[in-house]
Amino acid sequence: MIKLDKNEIAVSILNADFYNLQKSIEIFRENKIKYLHLDVMDGMFVPNISFGMPIIESLKKSCSDFVFDTHLMITEPERYIDKFADVGSNIITIHLEATDKIDECIKMVKDKNIQVGISIKPNTEVEKIYPYLDKIDLVLMMSVYPGFGGQSFIVESLDRIKKLKKYIDDNKLNVVIEVDGGINIDNVQSVTDAGVELVVIGSAICKGDIAANIDNFNKVIN
Ligand code: DX5
Ligand code: ZN
Repeated sequence: MIKLDKNEIAVSILNADFYNLQKSIEIFRENKIKYLHLDVMDGMFVPNISFGMPIIESLKKSCSDFVFDTHLMITEPERYIDKFADVGSNIITIHLEATDKIDECIKMVKDKNIQVGISIKPNTEVEKIYPYLDKIDLVLMMSVYPGFGGQSFIVESLDRIKKLKKYIDDNKLNVVIEVDGGINIDNVQSVTDAGVELVVIGSAICKGDIAANIDNFNKVIN
């Protein structure tokens, strides 16, 4: 199980400066970031292509001290779950909308002894995730339409998070809520107040002074 003793930041490297990725990651490490959020896109499930197994495998060699939080925005993730587990993912999150084999996908991830998440897009009803909550570790609530970093937070996401949090608490479920998309220094408190424990932050950390950005977030969420 994911054990969070406080709110944590998962840094999305999607909008990082890839030429200087090593420098960026060293700054994450110096500033006690524990989670790397890895956005995998296939140009089918979302209208963008990012990176895949080779990049993650290469990163893992020097970054095994981080939790690798792999967000699969790919159609029929069952085709690749084993591979993304084998290159070093510690959490694999698949999209509810990406497959009709959700139970099979959950089992595939669990069989690798890593943690499993399900993500939903902003227009997928929150209730659709309820039948799976007792089988998964994490729900990744998208607060933008997946595909690109640097988009604006969809404010309606707050009510969706609160609804999910209430359902989790009412049913005494042990599931972490992670939020992804458009998080900045002005809205981060609202998502943690709504029940989020793991906050994905991409451009608001990777653009500009990374250390100062992390410091500003830590002042708000801890
Ligand atoms: C969007 C990705 C996000 C995104 C976050 O499809 O899943 O992880 O890169 O980046 P920001 O924080 O810039 O919205
Ligand atoms: Zn993501």
